[in-house]
Amino acid sequence: MPTRINQPETAMSIDSADPASSDGGPVSTIDLTIEGKQHSLPLIEGSEGEKAIDISALRNTTGCISFDPGYQNTGCCKSAITFIDGEKGILRYRGYPIEDLGTKSTFLEVAYLLIHGDLPMQNELKKFTLEIESNSLIHENMLQFFNSIPPNAHPMAVLSSAVNSLSIHYPAFFAGDQDAETFEVMAARLLSTIRTIAAFTYKKSIGHPLVYPQANVSYCANFLNMMFSTPIKQHVVDPDVERALDMVLIIHADHEQNCSTSTVRLVGSSKVNLYSSICAGLCALWGPLHGGANQQVIEMLDQIKKQGLTIKECLALAKDKENPFKLMGFGHRVYKNFDPRAAMIKEMCRKLLKKKEISDPLFDIALELEDAALKDEYFIERKLYPNVDFYSGLIYRAIGIPTNMFTVMFAMGRMPGWIAHWKEMHDTVPFKIGRPRQIYIGEKERKYPPLSKRKQFSIMSIFQSAS
Ligand code: ACO
Repeated sequence: MPTRINQPETAMSIDSADPASSDGGPVSTIDLTIEGKQHSLPLIEGSEGEKAIDISALRNTTGCISFDPGYQNTGCCKSAITFIDGEKGILRYRGYPIEDLGTKSTFLEVAYLLIHGDLPMQNELKKFTLEIESNSLIHENMLQFFNSIPPNAHPMAVLSSAVNSLSIHYPAFFAGDQDAETFEVMAARLLSTIRTIAAFTYKKSIGHPLVYPQANVSYCANFLNMMFSTPIKQHVVDPDVERALDMVLIIHADHEQNCSTSTVRLVGSSKVNLYSSICAGLCALWGPLHGGANQQVIEMLDQIKKQGLTIKECLALAKDKENPFKLMGFGHRVYKNFDPRAAMIKEMCRKLLKKKEISDPLFDIALELEDAALKDEYFIERKLYPNVDFYSGLIYRAIGIPTNMFTVMFAMGRMPGWIAHWKEMHDTVPFKIGRPRQIYIGEKERKYPPLSKRKQFSIMSIFQSAS
């Protein structure tokens, strides 16, 4: 039976026949009528039944482009890495539910899964772990960079600069360059040194000597040791903290075409090297509407506590369209139901605080805020639920990680996803540079006036003409 999507009066209509399921290829065609002329476009379908109208030939055949600010309806690629059903609150990496991976797997296994497509065999995991371990040092010349950073520099600015500078110290130009390191080495270096860079940034900010990475310790234990050991006291890693951190990293490891991952793909599509593409992703992640929200959530909870705001007052502020205040850690472009990651992190947070016998008043405020928001008509109507950033900062706080480093922790978790997407994009045939179009709304062609004939519209000229 044909499906009709009603279109406004612009004489554009779409008809399609029922599609059969597929893995991203065309399953039927869509008839699109523009100004009385009919065009046929392929309807494609993904392995989970997601449908898309393939408009790649739209401009050539109709002269029109699609218009979709914020890319709310635009699929920019076919991907086999992560599946999200935002309406049902489902998240899977390479087909495995996040709940299984978060409770049964390890961050390095998940990183391998995302980048290579399947869970590793024992020997593959051993080799991968060894690669991560042997690429954990940063070039000693980079220490000059760390020595020059002011103590109050934001760790995301330091991280993104340091990651880009990896391409200064290591040969990292794109395939075809004889001197370039292999993709595997670049990926291992990124996964490994992000811990070293993050910990060095922290140590420098507090004026402590750097602690170097170790061999034969887990990914998270190595990081915690670099963060919290000092020459006078060896940090003893709590296995519960190590496990909690590993789970948080797994939960952040990928989230399909979000703002930072799309940035990595777009920048990488110019065929710039992996380090620079990931640096661009780091910059995109830093923003408060994306990964920067985890820092903002804690700052918001802290403000609520310090100013003695009631939950009711806080929700009223968030609903007030005249006020820029938003409930940070709430809402998501894709999830219109519970973000499964938020529920897992909340539970882990509860466990960790109990284990460490910490009573965190900000956790209590977060619980109250969530409870009230989920009962509030404004949030119900707009399907606004807590996202991954709402509780993650509370775990980092319990571990002792400073607030301005929360987005760095997000980046550490997201690294495998960015690498996997960069690789998938480069392996895609045919390869296309990313280049959106626009609808131009500026001046039509006009004559160039010589400088002496241009009209002055300065404030001064208005006063002069008035006097
Ligand atoms: N507090 C109050 N109102 C909100 C919030 C919020 N946190 N989020 C969305 N809304 C409202 C909007 O004002 C809008 O209301 P309207 O329909 O009356 O205009 C409606 O809900 C829809 O929101 P949009 O901003 O249009 O949704 P969009 O998909 O464009 O944005 C975003 C999603 C950026 C995440 C948004 O919900 C937000 O700003 N949240 C707070 C920041 C945050 O937590 N970011 C982290 C997201 S998760 C991640 O990136 C890892």
